[in-house]
Amino acid sequence: QSNSHLKHKRVLISAGGTRERIDSVRYITNDSSGKMGYALAKAAAYAGATVTLVSTIHNLPVPLGVELVTVQSALEMQQAIESRFDQLDVVIMAAAVSDYRPAQSLAYKIKKNSKDDLTELKLVKNPDILAGLGQKKQHQFLVGFAAETSNLEKYALTKLADKHVDMIVANDVSQANIGFNSDDNAVTVLTNTQKSIRLAQAAKPLIAQKLIELISQHI
Ligand code: C5P
Repeated sequence: QSNSHLKHKRVLISAGGTRERIDSVRYITNDSSGKMGYALAKAAAYAGATVTLVSTIHNLPVPLGVELVTVQSALEMQQAIESRFDQLDVVIMAAAVSDYRPAQSLAYKIKKNSKDDLTELKLVKNPDILAGLGQKKQHQFLVGFAAETSNLEKYALTKLADKHVDMIVANDVSQANIGFNSDDNAVTVLTNTQKSIRLAQAAKPLIAQKLIELISQHI
C-alpha cells in the first residue's frame, strides 16, 4: 500500500460513543462499540498515514503505531479534535457523539432521598463537532458517518451539504446484523463529485480498508 495518497498524511479518527456524566458514577451513552473507528485507524496506518485515534473506548487493542487520545464526553472530544485540526489532513468522524448532555454534572454521587434526588434529568444540546469542523476547514478532507433507518441516500446527501463535509458513509441501521455494535457493516459512500458507491456487507476491517482506499483516491 506504499503508493497510497495517505502516505505521511495526518489522519484523525474518532471512535466510540461519548459518555455524558450525570454524576461521578452515572452517565448517558449509546451502543457504539468503536469497532469501525479502530478498523479505520488500522487501515489508515497500514496505508502509511500518521494516525491519531480519539476514542471513548478502553477495551479494544490500539493498532500498532496509532496514537491514542482517550476522552469521555462530546465536549472533551471536540476539544481534542479542534486543538489538533490545523495540523490535520483528514478527519474521519466515526464516533457516535451524543446529541445531548445533562445540563449539570455533579462531582459526587447523587444520593437518593437527598436534596439532589434525581427524578428528572434536564438535558442541553451538545455541539455538532463535525459541522463545526466543516465551518473551519481549509485544506482538510472531512468524512462523516450517517446512520439512517429510511431514505438513506437523501438524508446522507443533505448531511453532506449541511455540514460541509467531503464524504458521507451512510449505513442502514434498520438491519440488525450490520452497523452499531456488530462485526459486519454495509455502507453507501457519497461524495460531491461522484455517484454513490455501495460497499456490500462484509467484516468491518474489510469495509474500513475499502473506505481508506476511497478516501485516498479523493485527497
Ligand atoms: O447528524 P448526525 O448525528 O446523523 O451526523 C452523524 C455524523 O456527525 C457522524 O460522523 C458523527 O460523528 C458526527 N456528529 C458530530 N457531533 C455531534 C453529532 C454527530 O460530530 N454532536
